[in-house]
Amino acid sequence: MCGIVGYVGPRQCVDLVVSGLKKLEYRGYDSAGVAVVGASGLEVARSKGKLANLVGVLKERPLHGTTGIGHTRWATHGRPSDENAHPHRYGGVAVVHNGIIENHLALRSSLQGRGHQFASETDTEIFAHLIAEALEDGKRNLVQAVRTALSQIQGTYAVAVISDRFPNEIVAAKNASPLVVGFGQGESFLASDVPAILEHTRDVVYLEEGELAHLTAQGISLEDRDGVPLDRPPRRIEWSAVAAEKEGHKHFMHKEIHEQPRALVDTVRGRTLLEEGDVALDGLELSADEAQRISRLVIVACGTSWHAGLCGRYMMETLARLPVEVELASEFRYRDPIVDERTLCLAISQSGETADTLAAVKEAKRRGARAVSICNVVGSAIPRECSGTLYTRAGPEIGVASTKAFTTQLACLFLLAVKLGRLRGTLSMEAARSHLSALRQLPAWMEQVVRQEPAVLPVAKRCAQARDVLFLGRGSQYPVALEGALKLKEISYIHAEGYAAGEMKHGPIALVDENLPVIVLATREPAYEKTLGNMEEVRARGGQVYAVVSEGDVHAASLAQVALTVPEAPPLLAPLLSILPLQFLAYHVADLKGTDVDQPRNLAKSVTVE
Ligand code: G6P
Repeated sequence: MCGIVGYVGPRQCVDLVVSGLKKLEYRGYDSAGVAVVGASGLEVARSKGKLANLVGVLKERPLHGTTGIGHTRWATHGRPSDENAHPHRYGGVAVVHNGIIENHLALRSSLQGRGHQFASETDTEIFAHLIAEALEDGKRNLVQAVRTALSQIQGTYAVAVISDRFPNEIVAAKNASPLVVGFGQGESFLASDVPAILEHTRDVVYLEEGELAHLTAQGISLEDRDGVPLDRPPRRIEWSAVAAEKEGHKHFMHKEIHEQPRALVDTVRGRTLLEEGDVALDGLELSADEAQRISRLVIVACGTSWHAGLCGRYMMETLARLPVEVELASEFRYRDPIVDERTLCLAISQSGETADTLAAVKEAKRRGARAVSICNVVGSAIPRECSGTLYTRAGPEIGVASTKAFTTQLACLFLLAVKLGRLRGTLSMEAARSHLSALRQLPAWMEQVVRQEPAVLPVAKRCAQARDVLFLGRGSQYPVALEGALKLKEISYIHAEGYAAGEMKHGPIALVDENLPVIVLATREPAYEKTLGNMEEVRARGGQVYAVVSEGDVHAASLAQVALTVPEAPPLLAPLLSILPLQFLAYHVADLKGTDVDQPRNLAKSVTVE
């Protein structure tokens, strides 16, 4: 998830592009760069780190030009560095890209075979090479050259291209990653997101899948994926600049909850090998020998990531028949944990910077374990400490209360469990295929749940009045109960507890009265009838039961005052759906109470202290 800005017109554009990038910094901040075409041809400036570093570089070596593109990077392929920063250039062509080119290895090696040399580790650089190659014989214009390059590429992209042969043009194309073009008077703009250009124009067109835009100072022409010209009138944006950064959502957390189906597509893309019933874990490859040698898996994490780990235990035990311990990193590191060279330590962290998790990884390694991680931020401290990392590809998460990081961590855990199951011989190819197809079905199921957001409102109104809220779940839904309670307390400041449904009779049942909302995760799973029994027990004591139930389960729904439905997924994947209504619940309770949803009191997004 990177940010792109482009300009073509009469103005010197470097400052304009950089100030647009500033508005997109929330989309990524590993590195930044600009490319312009001016009197001295094509020029590029790039720098690792935040945009301020690029500003420093430009101060020392200013660029001049009236056609330009810029980029702020959220690394997917290749660590954050100057060389891997965009724009990438080759043969007079410069490219910025947001997305992932799945067939980049094959394309890179065939280009190398044709004598091309690469300057970076990125998938994006391939674009520049392919376009330069298509322009070589002088027979194509820039649009045709970009089309030729795109026809060879599989994956997702929002891409913008300039060339010194066509100094007054930008060509941009979109497939799955966002891109918007803006119409000015004698000038044209493009960006990943409206805030970057809102200062200059409010008349925009959002590109649809497969569409291509040709920008000049005179205007913008659009084509569909077959090259057929499109006549789509611009839409006028009425949002304020701040609202636009949140894409019209009131809070980042709300935007991020809604982003989950899209984020999950990115997490899974290119990693499921359906035919082979296998998984490609780029960055975390394990050999069959290693997988068989492991005697146990120790998961270390904090907060929401720890809850993801608890769900992961069910996946690993079921699919890979591997003994799993899920440890709070802050506890693990101060014990005298039993870890040896046959232990695989898996750290889970959104930020990759949590001090306790990092220390736990170091401790496990010191005792001889191999350490790997599931992280969101590429090149952060925890991946640097581990021998392999599976990135969640959720894009930057701004809301302090973690949402899309959680569901994408679950997807990564599931991929890892299937992989380990295959390598350890505990999962047949057919079974793996069916698990992976279910995983690929999830984004569509998530969309369905997201659409049902309004159903949560009556429950939120009730919970906003409560002093305490109890969340109950069983099996793989138990960690979801813990996570639902954590979300609620983090942002609404209402005391909430998550409990294993079967443990209710050993304590929490004493709390039940007419003032206590009890949220029960009652989706169909092996022991779900027992959970229905727990709902009856709460009702019998005058408690108020709200439930998350499987679609079509009239019986479970009849036991709740309000039932929130989710599609029936296989039990190991059910948490990815059932957490969504609970995220919405916490969000709406907090919103009703008027708390600071994105930056709740006393909490930090990344806890780098012990
Ligand atoms: C903080 C955040 C939580 C997060 C936890 C672990 O407490 O507020 O949302 O779950 O840290 O962070 P990590 O980046 O390691 O996942």
